[in-house]
Amino acid sequence: MANEDQFKKVISHAKEYGYVFQSSEIYDGLSAVYDYAQNGAELKKNIRDYWWKAMVQMHDNIVGIDAAIFMHPTTWKASGHVDAFSDPLIDNKDSKKRYRADVLVEDYCLKIEAKIEKEVKKAEKRFGESFNKEEFISTNGRVVGYQEKIDSILKRLGQSLEKEDLADVKALIEELEIACPVAGSRNWTDVKQFNLMFGTKLGASTETAMDLYLRPETAQGIFVNFLNVQKTGRLKIPFGIAQTGKAFRNEIVARQFIFRMREFEQMEMQFFIKPGTQKKWFEHWKETRMKWHLSLGMGEENYRFHDHEKLAHYADAATDIEFKFPFGFKELEGIHSRTDFDLKQHEEFSGKKLQYFDHEDNESYTPYVLETSIGLDRMFLAVFSNALVEEELEDGKTRTVLKLPAVLAPVKAAIFPLLAKDGLPEVAKKIVEDLKWDFNVAYEEKDTVGRRYRRQDANGTPFCITVDHDTLEDNTVTIRHRDTMDQKRVKIEDLKEIIKAEVDVKHWLMKM
Ligand code: GAP
Repeated sequence: MANEDQFKKVISHAKEYGYVFQSSEIYDGLSAVYDYAQNGAELKKNIRDYWWKAMVQMHDNIVGIDAAIFMHPTTWKASGHVDAFSDPLIDNKDSKKRYRADVLVEDYCLKIEAKIEKEVKKAEKRFGESFNKEEFISTNGRVVGYQEKIDSILKRLGQSLEKEDLADVKALIEELEIACPVAGSRNWTDVKQFNLMFGTKLGASTETAMDLYLRPETAQGIFVNFLNVQKTGRLKIPFGIAQTGKAFRNEIVARQFIFRMREFEQMEMQFFIKPGTQKKWFEHWKETRMKWHLSLGMGEENYRFHDHEKLAHYADAATDIEFKFPFGFKELEGIHSRTDFDLKQHEEFSGKKLQYFDHEDNESYTPYVLETSIGLDRMFLAVFSNALVEEELEDGKTRTVLKLPAVLAPVKAAIFPLLAKDGLPEVAKKIVEDLKWDFNVAYEEKDTVGRRYRRQDANGTPFCITVDHDTLEDNTVTIRHRDTMDQKRVKIEDLKEIIKAEVDVKHWLMKM
């Protein structure tokens, strides 16, 4: 399936199976704002829990908080967001459409990347078994040329953005002959910066109301609480503070479904360390976070690191964990060495000391910070798009399966009576009542069992359990596995352990 088709399928499947809906759909929706439906809310919660378990509860030296979305407006002056949290925008004078200038250039590079993939596929066919992809990529003249072109374009873009040389970003767009996807013309305005924070007001009267921002990242809620948490938790460096929560950005390039939203959720952790140790911790968290991703079994080949050329105003090193979405490799998570920038800024703007007294070294210092920051919605899209497959069956038919990692699946088991009579529904409902203490389970009695299996496959449910007439005799049921479609006869009393063995967080996180 072409990538574009696959992505369209992901979006329609998410709607059809109650995962994600366009926000306020009855009023024609709100661009780049989405609602999570009955299955989506469960999947999202399971991802959040999986992260929280790994990052907070499995670490003795990391604690979790839940800071407010509204913060004192000076927070954003101190953090640099008022002055520097902006995107370079460019308008096409014919279509009147607005674009992120850097994204136009990156999309151009993606097209070259697609050419590389095409060459690789052709060679794969030609050489068959003996094909060595890495060797081909590093030696084939055409591919090397394409890669060099991408590298030099991205390098120039990074350097121009770093130097705030917006005229050069425009020059690059012109040199590459990038046209407006709508008008097809190259009639561009100059590139300008545009602040991404949403403003709002606090207070009833217009004269006294205070201007506020909706937080564009959760991290600042952690920085301003740093000393309170450290003191009340009696935490010793190195230690971390984590939180999950909503963030808001007035994104201009609002497309790609839940990849880039205006209201989204982040899962962030700030790790407070001794100055000078940041390189070591940067490597540590790169490795630890990649292991977390790989523990979900979504394919090592679907991840890569991308080190930043252009560093954010607060960072001395940064990398992205990129994932292969249906539209190509894109940022899923950021790992940033933020130095002491934020704490120092908050000290300066608040006039309060935000230092740590190190009893071992008998000295006070402003800690350095290592941050891991992942978008929950982006992780949702990674998991969901990776899971959706169409399988050819032996009888020539196809089945649509959502092969979600069982630990994240919204519904862990669906319980069916073979027929809606003869006392079978009563037994099936009794199993539901027993299992729902431990797992989210569903009951279904409509349609043939075959159809119910297909529905649950498409819904991502790892197990289906069928109660039939034999159950009434010997207390056994048929359990069917979503991925293998294998069926086994098991005792009702063993169901809990069988399901637990596959959906338990421990079973998955132990792989880290
Ligand atoms: N505190 C650091 C920070 O916010 P970021 O790279 O701007 O860094 C971190 O964002 C993560 O948040 C990204 O890797 C991405 O997963 C997610 N994210 C950022 N903007 C987003 C958006 N508009 N929609 C969905 N997720 C977003």
